[in-house]
Amino acid sequence: MTGPLRLGVNIDHVATVRNARGSGYPDPVRAALVAADHGADGITAHLREDRRHITDDDIARLSSELTVPLNLEMAATQEMLGIALRHRPHAACIVPEKREERTTEGGLDAAGQHDLLAPMVRDLGAAGIRVSLFIEPAADQIAAAIALGAPVIELHTGRYAELSGEAQVAELRRIADAAALAAKNGIEVHAGHGLTFDNVVPIAAIPQLRELNIGHFLIGEAIFDGLGPVVRRMKGLMEDAR
Ligand code: PXP
Repeated sequence: MTGPLRLGVNIDHVATVRNARGSGYPDPVRAALVAADHGADGITAHLREDRRHITDDDIARLSSELTVPLNLEMAATQEMLGIALRHRPHAACIVPEKREERTTEGGLDAAGQHDLLAPMVRDLGAAGIRVSLFIEPAADQIAAAIALGAPVIELHTGRYAELSGEAQVAELRRIADAAALAAKNGIEVHAGHGLTFDNVVPIAAIPQLRELNIGHFLIGEAIFDGLGPVVRRMKGLMEDAR
């Protein structure tokens, strides 16, 4: 018995489609409400520095309209800290961010950036926001998260998602070992990036995991099957894996 595993649905790419035409639709807040109605336990949104998908107004509307917890993904900047403290989402996941990247590539260097991250973790935590650090599944990063006093980490599954065969099995083992190490040290463990119907089950079976955050694949599949059924199917696969 491994305990429940929450699904956080990332709605960034509903905003990507909206912004492609500068229209008001499709509305990411409407997508969030549909996802919540069909089994999403929370909603995740990344307010990027360049506002390429989610906007400040989306965050304001999500904060006031959602009935499930909001997880705000944010870079470790003073601007984002101010926005998080203003809206006080349930959770804030600190991610590395580079302007030129297509998506969040790699985890935070929690060890190398201790002095930058320490006041952020402290200020967000003091505001009652559950802070998580998006890191690679590596022992040195977990040690750094412990040193920072982060209550939650999210393990980057991007490499796992890109690999196949033996290499993927090895990466899965690295993620499972990292989850066990973090949980043993009292840290709540989440995971995400690149997860699909085809690769989610072995990740969802890792007993220490408490939440998966999944976006791009779900929004793409929703074109064919509708967002509600797609969220329900992902949640079902996760439940079956436990
Ligand atoms: N978790 C974090 C911290 C992320 O940055 C992202 C991508 O925005 C995800 C999860 C979701 O990844 P994907 O869109 O590939 O499912």
